Amino acid sequence: MKRVRILTFSLCLIPFLVLVFKVFQSDLGPDPAKELALLTGEWAINFLLLALAMTPLRQLSGRVEFAQRRRMVGLFALFYASAHFMVWVVFLLGLRWGAIIEEVVERPYITVGFSSFLILVALGVTSPRAMVRRLGKNWRRLHRLVYVAGVLAVVHLVWIVRTDLSQAFIYGVLLVVLLGWRVVFARHRVRGAA
Ligand code: HEM
Repeated sequence: MKRVRILTFSLCLIPFLVLVFKVFQSDLGPDPAKELALLTGEWAINFLLLALAMTPLRQLSGRVEFAQRRRMVGLFALFYASAHFMVWVVFLLGLRWGAIIEEVVERPYITVGFSSFLILVALGVTSPRAMVRRLGKNWRRLHRLVYVAGVLAVVHLVWIVRTDLSQAFIYGVLLVVLLGWRVVFARHRVRGAA
């Protein structure tokens, strides 16, 4: 159990270590700040979708380890989204904090990205077991917002890519499959209960 936890944690940290390695090797191409923004953004959405896939994976495989690691994977989505946010604030905005509000209000792709990030922060803050107990039924309701965060992240991506939409399309299809799975499974459960 503890070994699985350590293994999951180490695997989730690998993309970050690769990023740090690339920074130290100056291996980020002609526009390092933009490359960092793109890479951290990609890992944020990868982990977000992976977190959403943990329940279907548990149901398909019957292995509870997937459900047990869902929180950690979700927190890594928040971790990479925070790194993405920091890269944007530090390297792309040059620490002009006032520009944050301006950009969030004026650029629709930033507005949706930022909204997705705020949802991830709210889910991260309420993820400890003590918060689960404290919020009771509302915890489940709040954590359904993870699907909204996923939709906003995909919209953010669609808004950014101007020519090649294939990457955004793949993420969009994955999200629809995961959402569809949840809806079908929830209906199944209601029928079973009836
Ligand atoms: C905190 C709010 C956010 C801001 C300010 C932000 C900003 C940005 C910026 C400036 C870019 C580069 C755009 C360009 O090509 O010029 C970008 C790309 C991207 N962002 Fe965000 N973002 C935010 C939140 C998120 C979140 C929450 C996710 C996913 C969970 C995400 C996923 C992505 C992805 C996948 C890309 C594109 C990567 C690629 O084209 O390879 N972003 N974002």
